Amino acid sequence: MSSYSDTKRYCSNRRGGSYYKRPHSSRSSSSSRFSTHHHKNCKGRHFSKAIVQKLLDTDIKHSREQYFEKLRILKILGEGKFGTCYLVTDEKTLFALKLLKKKKYQKNPNKAKFEEDILKTLRHEAIPRFIRKIDDESLIGFILEYKQGMNLETMIFSQGHVFTRNEIYNIGKQLIDILKYLHGEGVVHRDIRLPNVLFNDNRIYLVDFGLARWIDNKNFKPERDFLCLGNFLLHLYYTSFTDKTKKSRPWYEELKLSSKEFVFLKKLMGNEKRYKNIYEVEMDFEEMFK
Ligand SMILES: Nc1ncnc2c1ncn2[C@@H]1O[C@H](COP(=O)(O)OP(=O)(O)OP(=O)(O)O)[C@@H](O)[C@H]1O
Ligand SMILES: [Mg+2]
Repeated sequence: MSSYSDTKRYCSNRRGGSYYKRPHSSRSSSSSRFSTHHHKNCKGRHFSKAIVQKLLDTDIKHSREQYFEKLRILKILGEGKFGTCYLVTDEKTLFALKLLKKKKYQKNPNKAKFEEDILKTLRHEAIPRFIRKIDDESLIGFILEYKQGMNLETMIFSQGHVFTRNEIYNIGKQLIDILKYLHGEGVVHRDIRLPNVLFNDNRIYLVDFGLARWIDNKNFKPERDFLCLGNFLLHLYYTSFTDKTKKSRPWYEELKLSSKEFVFLKKLMGNEKRYKNIYEVEMDFEEMFK
């Protein structure tokens, strides 16, 4: 049984060679975020500064019912560097409301545009559908289809879930299928990480298209997703790692991997002999679990 500290040690010591981005969970509290007293939403109605502030700054578990436009806020789904994602309802359907702090985008106001443009074009059951845009003087955001599930970061670090080989196969296979679709549509996700993958009843969902871009094979290549996939799978493998010695060794020495698994992960994350496309990745992945 692995522990949080085992995986944490892996996170801080092994960068898989080239890439590791520690999931962030910090949230800034700000009292001067809004310059005017009232804010006009995209339909022209007004909502008060106090409500917006509460939405972003308070733990809604401890406050009374709150609304954003006509949507009732049920809970916070997650918080990131740029904003907060809420579970909301119009009393018929559940939605995910992703509100981003516009201030964070001042240097590059088009940043959220990619997330919007890309999500609008995608039609896949494992990817939330884009419903509507929010654009206010201080907030920018989206209403998205809600995908029910627990993200893998919570599953591992809060629930202590240990993934079996079968579960790793099931999740990896679905992620590869999603990547076949995305890359086929000319999109590279660029942020496949534990908090951006939801799990429910053996199905996975990929969220957070905040870093997604159109593939141009120059700055934005599909290979970036292979690197992330390798790193992501390593996290799943590490859940069953028990640290008997204090001395840390590289992942390929610590984990009990078959030679096919070793070559596969190295190829995903290494500098030499990289995969050319997702179909090559799929072939080796299937071979590895035969
Ligand atoms: N459509 C959705 N359905 C269900 N849960 C979602 C959905 N979108 C996001 N979440 C949950 O909310 C969390 C935060 O959302 P998201 O990852 O999109 O924001 P973020 O990490 O703050 O974004 P960014 O990296 O662009 O700053 C996710 O980790 C996930 O648990
Ligand atoms: Mg995220």
